[in-house]
Amino acid sequence: QSLNIAIIGAGLSGISAARSLAAAGHAVVLFDKSRGSGGRLSSKRTEFGNFDLGAQYFTARDHGFRQELKTWLDARYVEEWTPNLYQYDQNGLQLSADNQQRFVGYPRMTAWSRGLLEGLELVSSTRIEKLQAQDDGQWLLLDDQQQTHGPFARVVVATPAPQAVPLLAPASQLAQAASQVEMLPGWTLALSFAEPLDTQVDACFVRQGPIDWISRNSSKPGREQSDSWVIQSTPAWAQEHLDTDKDSIAGSLQAAFSEVLGIKVPATQFSHVHRWLYARPGQQCEWGALAAPELGLYACGDWCLGGRVENAWLSGQQAARTLLSKP
Ligand code: FAD
Ligand code: NAI
Repeated sequence: QSLNIAIIGAGLSGISAARSLAAAGHAVVLFDKSRGSGGRLSSKRTEFGNFDLGAQYFTARDHGFRQELKTWLDARYVEEWTPNLYQYDQNGLQLSADNQQRFVGYPRMTAWSRGLLEGLELVSSTRIEKLQAQDDGQWLLLDDQQQTHGPFARVVVATPAPQAVPLLAPASQLAQAASQVEMLPGWTLALSFAEPLDTQVDACFVRQGPIDWISRNSSKPGREQSDSWVIQSTPAWAQEHLDTDKDSIAGSLQAAFSEVLGIKVPATQFSHVHRWLYARPGQQCEWGALAAPELGLYACGDWCLGGRVENAWLSGQQAARTLLSKP
């Protein structure tokens, strides 16, 4: 029997669950508050090219995920990225090459999530605020414009944990579990230069002070554009500067960027700052996904495993498996 299933959140975990549930013959509708999709797989289109503002790359360790990856590589939703990798520590900047394979959406991060959404129904620009139980056990979704959507026999909440808590209120155990997850913020600075910076660095783990990570965005496959960079802050620095104005954030991160690379950074032709309130869960956990099958409510997201792209995918798979095992 085909069920009407709502998925709240069209990030990778929601998309992952949606694909499995649709493949099993159910009628799936995704809802997202943003205009687009992909969540923290996020790319900003500019006249200087596409910048990845969220996830920078992903690794693939799980067997099932690696199998899927082959199909995404074949479809060219995804390509391998082989940056000149550095690290920066008390000994300064040094090469830090390794054998880890790293992948990116092609030709931008969101091209992958877009590709995965093909054939699925997405209702965008719709922020769901509340789930309302009907007498027959089905669910109505209430959005912030007081519109209702549904009814749905099952609901999968695939948002970051703090945004999942109010939605999961009818399943108090799930809401309580989600409320225990702290999600840490992050600042992202995107820069572009008319002339390539004089450095071999394509990517650098910093992990201290203001900067967590630097990447030469234009070194990723398909990002044909002028020399572009993405600088991400550490969670601790973001927490200290959560309400600082964007110009000051850009100034501080750019100064630290210049220091890490050991070069004087010329004037930018483009600069953009983005604040992530819920960039990553503060801890790893092993829930996989959360389920209240008696209510038809499920939750997934990177926070059910740990803040990585692969974990978001796996959590969505787990939510779908649990739902399908209890028809
Ligand atoms: P999300 O992608 O956050 O999706 C949740 C969706 O729910 C969003 O689209 C949101 O708009 C929507 N939503 C929320 N509330 C509502 C509501 N009430 N109604 C409707 N829709 C709602 N991981 C890596 O593996 N490698 C990296 O290099 C990496 N770098 C990162 C850098 C940054 C700056 C950030 C922020 C994250 C990074 N990550 C990285 C983590 C990775 O992006 C996430 O683990 C993954 O994308 C999370 O997917 P998700 O589906 O769990 O959540
Ligand atoms: P990975 O295997 O490349 O990295 C794992 C960790 O090992 C890194 O965090 C880094 O500290 C270290 N590391 C790996 N290779 C290194 C090298 N060559 N030199 C020095 N250090 C190295 O990728 P994985 O496990 O898939 O991790 C995902 C990445 O996503 C991490 O870098 C993580 O920090 C990042 N992330 C960033 C978020 C943000 O908000 N900025 C949110 C969530 C994840």
